Amino acid sequence: MEYITLNNGIKMPKLGYGVYQISNEECERCVLDAIDTGYRLIDTAQAYGNEEAVGKAINNCIVPREELFITTKVWISNGGYENAKKSLEESRKKLGTEYIDLVLIHQPFNDYYGTYRAMEEAYKEGWLRAIGVSNFYPDRLVDLCQFAEVIPAVNQVETHVFQQQKVAHEYMKKYGVQHQSWGPFAEGYKDFFANPVLCDIGNKYGKSVAQIALRFLLQSDVVVIPKSTHKERMAENMNVFDFVLGEADMDTIKKLDEETSLFFSHYDPTIVEMLTGLHR
Ligand SMILES: NC(=O)c1ccc[n+]([C@@H]2O[C@H](COP(=O)([O-])OP(=O)(O)OC[C@H]3O[C@@H](n4cnc5c(N)ncnc54)[C@H](OP(=O)(O)O)[C@@H]3O)[C@@H](O)[C@H]2O)c1
Repeated sequence: MEYITLNNGIKMPKLGYGVYQISNEECERCVLDAIDTGYRLIDTAQAYGNEEAVGKAINNCIVPREELFITTKVWISNGGYENAKKSLEESRKKLGTEYIDLVLIHQPFNDYYGTYRAMEEAYKEGWLRAIGVSNFYPDRLVDLCQFAEVIPAVNQVETHVFQQQKVAHEYMKKYGVQHQSWGPFAEGYKDFFANPVLCDIGNKYGKSVAQIALRFLLQSDVVVIPKSTHKERMAENMNVFDFVLGEADMDTIKKLDEETSLFFSHYDPTIVEMLTGLHR
């Protein structure tokens, strides 16, 4: 596994395992399989409803806790200083761990300044090793970086070959925030795994579409956390450190960028209503 060093000096694997849309029942088995395959970063969230299963897996696996890197995220309904503080303790309990490696604000809604203050406090107390954000597009990221005491270590945003986030990436670089991709395969949309451009490049290197897509992001300085419930795919998705895409192939993939979300816009008020109303 290769690692990057975050802006506070801690090391994070460049490739991890995401558990979105994996039920609490199936999640323990999946995380155990992922760890057995060699994954060391596990990405969960309060909103995924599977922190307990992740906790069971990391406590039942043979890999020592200090070799694992666990990320969770504070959901909108737990926003604000007091709520966030309580929810961080709950996450720590569900995950069955003394400390959490990385906590992100899941969405830039509700009182996220209050949320961030609670995270900064836990960070200073030492039981959050790093803090950051998710779905913070440049306007919100710049605002937070200008006023927060601790610069976010990571910003996790939708990033794949069809939405490469070039502008967002430049702002993250400017403020020393590590770009992390969610949905590196666009969750399979647009017939992702049969994309002819990625298939052709894959044939050249003897690699699958999934491996080409992940390698492209890694070579673009983006950390990836692909999800699969299948152990053979977990292995396939990890096997991306033994080849390098040439400049011409990188340029060809760069041209696939449509510069728009395949899911939704965080600036669409109906989406904001949907996301912020989920807890009511
Ligand atoms: N911060 C946020 O707002 C946010 C939003 C979304 C996701 N995330 C995080 O990012 C992680 C990854 O994103 P994602 O889960 O949304 O989607 P994704 O990783 O882009 O795609 C997952 C899909 O690809 C399939 N797949 C995986 N590897 C494959 C392979 N080698 N060949 C063919 N199919 C393959 C999976 O199917 P099988 O499982 O059946 O193999 C699943 O349907 C999440 O799990 C979560 O941790 C964060």
